[in-house]
Amino acid sequence: MKKISVIAPSNIAFIKFWGRRDDKLCLPMNSSISMSLNNCFTITTIERSKKYTEDIVEIRSYKEEKYKKLVVSDIKDQNIFDQIERIRKLSGIKEKVYIRSQNSFPANSGIASSASGFSALTSALLLVYKQEHLFNNKKELSKLVRLCGSGSAARSVYGGIVELKTGRTHDESYAVQLYNSEYWDLVDIVCIIDSSSKKVSSSKGHLKSHSSEFEKARQVGLRNRLKQIKQAIKNKELERLGELIEADALSMHAVMMTQTPSLLYWEPGTISVMKQVIDLRGKDILGYFTIDAGANVHVITDSKNLEKLLPYLKKNEYVKDMIVNRPGKDVYITSEHLF
Ligand code: PMV
Repeated sequence: MKKISVIAPSNIAFIKFWGRRDDKLCLPMNSSISMSLNNCFTITTIERSKKYTEDIVEIRSYKEEKYKKLVVSDIKDQNIFDQIERIRKLSGIKEKVYIRSQNSFPANSGIASSASGFSALTSALLLVYKQEHLFNNKKELSKLVRLCGSGSAARSVYGGIVELKTGRTHDESYAVQLYNSEYWDLVDIVCIIDSSSKKVSSSKGHLKSHSSEFEKARQVGLRNRLKQIKQAIKNKELERLGELIEADALSMHAVMMTQTPSLLYWEPGTISVMKQVIDLRGKDILGYFTIDAGANVHVITDSKNLEKLLPYLKKNEYVKDMIVNRPGKDVYITSEHLF
């Protein structure tokens, strides 16, 4: 296949990782668990041809935006060109590629655009460079995706609920699917507080996690939390799941805030939504917050509580927009090309 398009879901971590055991291999400090998102995704089209004398990569956050061409010399996009080179080398094919990639949501806003983006990029590269066996082997695919420089991206090869295992070597750290997208009607309402680019990338932030006095305590607490959350998911206990999700988000942000230099991703609107969902639980409306490396708040709930939550969140003056997600599907091939 010389032209291929794929769609990959983003994901939201219920148990997050912060810090890396190995920066080059992007080995996460701890195992993490996430839900894939059906309405936050990336579509990527790749064409391989002799007519291209250089690799061309163009991306945009939204359909309405103009494509932005990435340049090889830009250090922040180096991972993308490295991944093209890595997979081309693997295949032995010399031809260059033309790549277009589009998100369904704003980039760099606490919705993991790198997760769906790197998963879609790696998958489409493997297919266009005739490495179908690696695309079909999701464990190997997740390891390759991780090498793009994002641990959370390794979880974006599967739909449903996914675990990314920590490990000391490249072979030990890979994603597994715990449950498929049909398992539980969980919902993630992404409340967009601020859609501008974040000032400090998670890649930069990970490097300083060791400087927080709370990092070791977090790692100790995580051993139990990982077991407990698996139990809550197994029993489909929303309240228990929610308590653990919130505890983990707060623990991770405590590390972020107390590392040097300090990282405070929250905005007034972040706290407003956190408090709002806590208050709504007093009215028996169940929603639980979690926040990644950005200001936006993900409210985790289920179908039963969704309709009750939405009118309240809509009225929150800080919430500019909302994206309602159910568990997404595995990365898949589509006939819808971007060019
Ligand atoms: O995927 P990375 O390396 O950019 O790091 C992800 C960090 C968090 O989103 C904050 C946590 C997580 O597990 O998704």
